[in-house]
Amino acid sequence: MALLEVNNLNVRFPTEDGVVHAVRDVSFSVDRGEVLGIVGESGSGKSVTNLAIMGLLARSTRIDGSIMYDGSELVGLPRSQQTKFRGNEIGMIFQDPMTSLNPVYTVGWQIAEAYRAHNKVSKQQGIARAVELLDLVGIPQAVKRVHSYPHEFSGGMRQRVMIAMSMANNPQVLIADEPTTALDVTVQAQILETLMEIKERTNIAIVLITHDLGVVAGMADRVMVMYAGAAVEIAPVDEIYYRPKMPYTIGLLGAIPSEASDGKKLRQIRGTTPSLINMKPGCPFSPRCPLVQDRCLTQTPTLEAVDNPAHLAACHRRAEIESIDVRALFAPEVVA
Ligand SMILES: Nc1ncnc2c1ncn2[C@@H]1O[C@H](COP(=O)(O)OP(=O)(O)O)[C@@H](O)[C@H]1O
Ligand code: SF4
Ligand SMILES: [Mg+2]
Repeated sequence: MALLEVNNLNVRFPTEDGVVHAVRDVSFSVDRGEVLGIVGESGSGKSVTNLAIMGLLARSTRIDGSIMYDGSELVGLPRSQQTKFRGNEIGMIFQDPMTSLNPVYTVGWQIAEAYRAHNKVSKQQGIARAVELLDLVGIPQAVKRVHSYPHEFSGGMRQRVMIAMSMANNPQVLIADEPTTALDVTVQAQILETLMEIKERTNIAIVLITHDLGVVAGMADRVMVMYAGAAVEIAPVDEIYYRPKMPYTIGLLGAIPSEASDGKKLRQIRGTTPSLINMKPGCPFSPRCPLVQDRCLTQTPTLEAVDNPAHLAACHRRAEIESIDVRALFAPEVVA
């Protein structure tokens, strides 16, 4: 059994306009030392999936399915027991480090408190642990910087502080939700490198969430592509890049300059994602799909293996996709 196993996860938010079905029957797993990338446009259910794992959704949220962490079921666990996992066994870092760090306390104090929340140690021992962690994430002169305030750090350094804080209790799983989205490209690369170093040193499992398929390229072992709350393709990273089987994935790939697209025109997926209230039967991608057929409008495709048991795609035309130049069917990107 994998370290973290999510099975048939459904998340529904009751709202005034109706029930928002934000996560629809999602299943995936991640093991020690493995990086799973979760990719999809904004609103595809990536964050909600992981907030469900962390037990951070409001009580009114309906969560069905199973989330097994190292043999323990997390769905339905009383709040008091969830904290045993959250921030301890499972760590999480968010997109915007400034909103998660408290400006009035030193970074060392904040990391020490994260450590002390789960360990009976003195303040000094907490600070010593903070120095160790700042060192782990590559902050120079950690002994000195431990006494700095968040505003004294650059955006990239603050994100390192957040990673340090999430590692305070040696979690076995780290969920990184768009950890580099707010950062410029050079800093982005440094942060990803830091995450990889931590993985090498600690054998931690990482769930890396991003809207940018380019970010997971050098990082992930496997990738899950989400669309409108559902997983539409899941495969080893090279399969996703070189043999994608789902038109949506191909559309995402067409929008990034990469080795695989070398010299080819960039493409875009026109249109917007469907409403998650009262979803109609049929393929949710059909209004935007260049390969759409009649059956796509009435039959919802399920995730099925194509060619390789580790490569699943939810598309009626998955078997024939390799013989079609799907990329060329998406609209060329308009260059300003
Ligand atoms: N508390 C909530 N109440 C109602 N709808 C929500 C709530 N949180 C998220 N959603 C909806 O769930 C969908 C998925 O959101 P999210 O997981 O944040 O997307 P992503 O992280 O992929 O950008 C979106 O349509 C969003 O509007
Ligand atoms: S099922 Fe049909 S509409 Fe959906 S992605 Fe495949 S070809 Fe396109
Ligand atoms: Mg999100």
